[in-house]
Amino acid sequence: MSKGKSVFRCTDCGADQPKWGGRCDACGAWNTLIEEPVGKKGGRVDGWTERTAVPVQLSNLPTAQRARWQTGLAEFDFVLGGGIVPGSVTLVGGEPGIGKSTLLMQCAARLESQGVSTLYVSGEESPDQLRLRADRLKENAGAIHVLGETRLESIIHHATQLKSAVVLLDSVQTTYTEALEGAPGNVGQVRECAARLMRFAKESGPAVLLVGHVTKGGGIAGPKTLEHIVDTVLYFEGEATLDHRLLRAVKNRFGSVDEIGVFQMTGAGLEPVANPAAAFLAGRSTGASGSAVTALMEGTRPMLVEIQALASKAGFGTPQRVATGLDHRRLALLLAVLERRGGLPFGSLDVFVNVTGGIRLLEPSTDLAVLAALVSTVHDRPVPADALFLGEVGLGGEIRPVAGVERRLAEAARQGFRRVFLSNRSKASTELEVIGLEGIGELARRLAA
Ligand code: TYD
Ligand code: MG
Repeated sequence: MSKGKSVFRCTDCGADQPKWGGRCDACGAWNTLIEEPVGKKGGRVDGWTERTAVPVQLSNLPTAQRARWQTGLAEFDFVLGGGIVPGSVTLVGGEPGIGKSTLLMQCAARLESQGVSTLYVSGEESPDQLRLRADRLKENAGAIHVLGETRLESIIHHATQLKSAVVLLDSVQTTYTEALEGAPGNVGQVRECAARLMRFAKESGPAVLLVGHVTKGGGIAGPKTLEHIVDTVLYFEGEATLDHRLLRAVKNRFGSVDEIGVFQMTGAGLEPVANPAAAFLAGRSTGASGSAVTALMEGTRPMLVEIQALASKAGFGTPQRVATGLDHRRLALLLAVLERRGGLPFGSLDVFVNVTGGIRLLEPSTDLAVLAALVSTVHDRPVPADALFLGEVGLGGEIRPVAGVERRLAEAARQGFRRVFLSNRSKASTELEVIGLEGIGELARRLAA
């Protein structure tokens, strides 16, 4: 196949340029030119736009729920919304080394053992290396077809020949199409490859799983540019030094977003965590001061997390404020509220706050737990080990109710918690002992008593 013609199109103004340049001649924007293929009649190379679709009335379409393939990797199926949808394209993004290839290989092995045919295409590792990984995984991976190829046209050819039900492509950055001249990994190539695979999936019916690398700096050809092309986007994240890995759905045409799945990286691959709600409480030392537990909502699922605080006498100069897993401005606000409304002086103390397990606090409902940890470290008195803290704190020191309180409390009860500190305006029926608080002065008094 000869190389098709291509133009460079500005993503801002849409103007076409025959040659690449750093700046669009038409609108003057920088770094917006992306290579796009052109067909003979001005359409696309493969003639997609020339095909005719016929309008149908919604009521004439089948309503049956599409069958899904469950991989049996419970957390993976959960995040997808119940398994892999035939004809869908899913992007699994994440930093190098986080475990994307491992996840896909395990997924392929589980599918094969249910008789779903898979093709694992790798542009990053040779088939021999894939074999080594598969042996290490202790999965039944023998039936997986592997292909060391980076040219999209041959990948689609082989997937068609084999009638693969699921195609796994590792990675989209190493794949290129002949329709474009740019090197693999540049934005134009990555987008065009993803768009072609999307069409292939919709027309021929296989599900496609794509691996996409993101760099620490959020590289330009990273999966971000693909998010609106594909059906589902999952991000695989975690601290490289910790065993836990979080799989997060940031877009899902077939399920809810913001769901997370928790895995553990072991010597034999990824293991879905059996009790994800409490996964981040493991290793908690209950007798120490400066620790408090709260319940976050991750998608539809409550998760318990521990917040640790440490306040110690500052040396010379401005006292330090270090927040890990929490916005430092939120910490500054909470410290100011605690000082003005709760009467606890932090002016001469260094303050460190840490959320364990690499979790990030994004909801204000965790404020009360941060305050409890701070009060506890200042007085050097542990909070009750069976207590949960749930509430948003206002600038007046008032404690506000949080959303989804019953689900959070039900999970806490299941995990063995016995009492909860929350706003006295919260309405919740729960088996936990409820300690309703008006404001943070009351919290400080309660924890000191
Ligand atoms: P990998 O799946 O290659 O990451 P990615 O494709 O996202 O770059 O795996 C990354 C790390 O996981 C690698 O450093 C080795 C480790 N690992 C295990 O700890 N156990 C295993 O069974 C496997 C296969 C990998
Ligand atoms: Mg890899």
